[in-house]
Amino acid sequence: MRRAIIPGTFDPITYGHLDVIKRAAQLFDEVTVAVAASAGKHPIFSLDERTALVREAIKDIDNADAEPFGGLLVDFAREKNAQVLVKGLRAITDFEYEFQMAALNYELGREIETVFIMSPPQYMYLSSSIVRELASLHSSVEKFVPEHVARALEAKFA
Ligand code: PNS
Repeated sequence: MRRAIIPGTFDPITYGHLDVIKRAAQLFDEVTVAVAASAGKHPIFSLDERTALVREAIKDIDNADAEPFGGLLVDFAREKNAQVLVKGLRAITDFEYEFQMAALNYELGREIETVFIMSPPQYMYLSSSIVRELASLHSSVEKFVPEHVARALEAKFA
């Protein structure tokens, strides 16, 4: 059984994340989207809200689920008996940060492999922070996030 973890803050989940989750679900037997507490990032959505938004977004992917976590990612991966961490990679701007995290996770858990999935061109520019900024300015975000996420953003910035 090949199990993968797809970690992130998901504040909120975007179509870019969803694309990576769908592609990972085709490569692995089971995927768990691990929603990080990321308290230091001061997310606008609570951990429960972010997890619920991810669960609704992935409800049609049979071999995917979502769970919140608060500790170290490698510990969560071990708890889930996952062998692989999957991260999406957009253009070159993500590389340094992702390279640093992959190297650190390698030191913390050498048995766990990090695998990168390239974002498709249409989502290369997309990020949760851009979506939050647009929503805060009451601009439409329908092109970038599932409908239930757009509604949650509208409510947050009403
Ligand atoms: O979507 P993000 O914010 O880029 O995801 C970053 C995340 C949540 C994957 C990373 O911060 C993380 O793994 N946090 C859990 C704590 C941890 O294990 N830190 C050491 C590895 S960086």
